[in-house]
Amino acid sequence: MTRDPNSLIPDDFTATPSLARSDAATVAVVDELDESSLGAIGVLVTSDGELPAGVDLDRAALARSGFEAKPGTTLALPYGSGPLLVLVGVGPGGELGANELRDAAAAFARAGSKSARIGIRVPSTGSADAAGAAQALTEGALLARYRFDTLKREPKDVALERVELRIDGADASQATSGVDVGLVTARAANLARDLANSPPGHLTATGMADVAVALGERFGFDVEVFDRQQLIELGCGGLLGVNRGSAEEPRMVKLRYTPDGESTGHLGLVGKGIMYDSGGISLKPSDPMHLLMKMDMGGAASVLAAFTALRDFGATAKVSGWLMCTDNMPSGSAYKLGDVLTARGGTTVEVKNTDAEGRLVMMDGIVLANEDGVDAIVDIATLTGSALMSLGQITAALLGNDETMLGEVERAAAATDEQVWRLPLERRYRKQLDSEIADLSNLGGPYAGATTAALFLAHFVGETPWAHLDIAGTMQSDADDSWRSKGATGFGTRILIEVARGFRANG
Ligand code: BES
Ligand code: MN
Ligand code: ZN
Repeated sequence: MTRDPNSLIPDDFTATPSLARSDAATVAVVDELDESSLGAIGVLVTSDGELPAGVDLDRAALARSGFEAKPGTTLALPYGSGPLLVLVGVGPGGELGANELRDAAAAFARAGSKSARIGIRVPSTGSADAAGAAQALTEGALLARYRFDTLKREPKDVALERVELRIDGADASQATSGVDVGLVTARAANLARDLANSPPGHLTATGMADVAVALGERFGFDVEVFDRQQLIELGCGGLLGVNRGSAEEPRMVKLRYTPDGESTGHLGLVGKGIMYDSGGISLKPSDPMHLLMKMDMGGAASVLAAFTALRDFGATAKVSGWLMCTDNMPSGSAYKLGDVLTARGGTTVEVKNTDAEGRLVMMDGIVLANEDGVDAIVDIATLTGSALMSLGQITAALLGNDETMLGEVERAAAATDEQVWRLPLERRYRKQLDSEIADLSNLGGPYAGATTAALFLAHFVGETPWAHLDIAGTMQSDADDSWRSKGATGFGTRILIEVARGFRANG
């Protein structure tokens, strides 16, 4: 049968392009870089202290080239016929740690972007131990070299094949275990990027569920898919209401990771999976920003991607995930302003703006997580323009009701360099969500939009310890910047992995 040329997910689709690609790149810890086979060699240089042995230049010569070893800067020195030598600034030696090493590896991987095989020489890991350093270096290189080029007939970027790490003074077996961790976290984040970068017509809610099923089989977690009829039976009026304008069916995808040994607790992860957000009847005005609304499923992508790492890391807690997937479209059947939707569990919500759809799909997921008896919830959603306006593209908004969970997310954010900043869950704004005719309105006032959206979710969370990540700002990057490659960033994937790995009930 001839296929529709725009049809998307190939019949044999079992995973995403990055899985194949990042599995193809090997990262090796070596005593000596193999200069004869490498296209580029990066040498990390601090902005103070001695230059690394073998760099036969002095600070004055470097300064004449404009290179002061500031973080993220590089100086490429082509030498004869050998590999390109790249000096990679890491800033002051006293401030060097895992995050600086990740940045440096990313900057170098880009500077050596013409080479499939690259090597990094690390004279010192600063405050990072061998494993942490190797993990960060691996992540930096693999995340920086990510490209979404599967739809280009002639991809122009050179794919990474091999990364050699020469880390002076590091124990090789510890460094190798760090590499193994970095391979898994980078693979997961790149998978989330693939999903978010996929065109909205290519990756529908149904397609997302198919991908989840394939990933579950490959990475050892259970996947249960709920179609429209099953969602009706569950009473998921939020997801169904938002879906009403769409020609595509909704899907709720439930993920479950069960640890091998005794479980240390049960963590629930809920992700917003709006495959495309047109605004619905409250149609978004035409604006380049709306090209990005295919990424409105970035939260669901990061939850799904995080699950691919749990078995590899032997996570000890039970982890359940809810991906709330549909697009938000205007049509003759679309939900309207003034409609009242009934959430799973019975809460009624007056729709005052169909573009505030994220909270409507999330409410059903949060109720289901609570019914499942989770010990804590982390939800992640490209929820509000307000988060983007307040904190920009590098820092996500963090809100919640529980100091321990908030602290866990902050710890994970610091370790992964996926930055977060707390906003207050100011309960006095809650009355902005009162409705004349229903239990709640889906629209707050004109100010503090990230807070009022979180207060809406808080209604469904109840007393369960909870942290909420609003990743509307951080879901994509306008330019290549350290480990963030232009386009979808996969933000939150590494935070969720880090939180889930160490999760135990009651802190
Ligand atoms: N998906 C958007 C939020 C968004 C904005 C994500 C920019 C990424 C970049 C969300 O569904 C939305 O439309 N939010 C509205 C809510 C408003 C109508 C209360 C917003 O923030 O403007
Ligand atoms: Mn919207
Ligand atoms: Zn949205």
